[in-house]
Amino acid sequence: MTAERLLADIDVFRNVILVELQQANTLDALEELRASAIGRTRGRLNDYKKYLPELAATDKPAFGARFNAVKVELEQAIDARRAALSASAPASVSLDLSMPARRQWRGAKHPVTIVMEEIEGIFRDLGFTIATGPEAEHEWYNFGALNFPPDHPAMDMHDTLYLERGGLLRTHTSPVQIRTLQSYPPPIRIIAPGNAFRRDFFDASHAPMFAQIEGMAVDEGISFVDLKATLANFANRFFGETATRFRPSFFPFTEPSAEMDVACRICNGAGCATCKQTGWVEILGCGMMHPSVLEAAGVDPQRYSGWAFGMGPARIALQRFGIPDIRIQYDSDVSFLEQFAQ
Ligand code: PHE
Repeated sequence: MTAERLLADIDVFRNVILVELQQANTLDALEELRASAIGRTRGRLNDYKKYLPELAATDKPAFGARFNAVKVELEQAIDARRAALSASAPASVSLDLSMPARRQWRGAKHPVTIVMEEIEGIFRDLGFTIATGPEAEHEWYNFGALNFPPDHPAMDMHDTLYLERGGLLRTHTSPVQIRTLQSYPPPIRIIAPGNAFRRDFFDASHAPMFAQIEGMAVDEGISFVDLKATLANFANRFFGETATRFRPSFFPFTEPSAEMDVACRICNGAGCATCKQTGWVEILGCGMMHPSVLEAAGVDPQRYSGWAFGMGPARIALQRFGIPDIRIQYDSDVSFLEQFAQ
């Protein structure tokens, strides 16, 4: 073995190991490569030392220098490769690019809110302004001014939570009629969205707290024709072309009073569980404002007349979206609510 040949072989060995190093893709494979290349017991680099006795004395220092240089170079290259593999090892195990991305959450309006905003939009088009009033109301605004005689049986349907000093949680949005007329002179057209409270059972069509939208129009010469035309126009806009009917009813604050039904959207009037087999669904109560109500609010009933209505957007939402039970709307159930995300 000549010195020249030996040095050339060591260079080839070095080059081969440097290539294999880049192909070692795990820490285990790298350690195996290290042991078999420069390890103390099995390292193949050491094999070249066997040829040392065969070399001329003058060639020995050059061999020694080359041997050590290659060993150091390979050690450093292995260390660098180990550092690189350690840095990427955990990621290469946990990163699964085929995994579906996590879906983004998107907030959405509650179905009752969607319905209320749409109703407000329709009445705004018809020239109505939005008015509001307090949820904690005075008995007088909730009952007295609205022509409920003391202890009248109509109040049985309006049992609620009473507060101190004649206060109560309002049982309907009708007190806003009085408050609005006290603040603004006729002609006036308002709708008043808000919450109302009653000691009702929580069943498929009732809840102890529910949204209402009050409506009121007061001017000279306002008649039942205005009421019917406005509400039928509303129903056609909201539901699409639909049959409506007015049934006689009673409220202390309107005379005459009526309830308006629309043809059930779920069975198209044929009769189903939602409309209790009648083919009709009640969506609001309404009537001509009682003269005593106008008077209580400080409006001259000889000069002015008006009509009012109160509707329940939660029940209307049942119809609009084909929801079978009002209670679902109070559940905060994401799988229900996210169906309304637009
Ligand atoms: N306030 C009545 C209720 O809650 C509804 C209504 C409002 C009826 C206005 C007539 C006029 O039942």
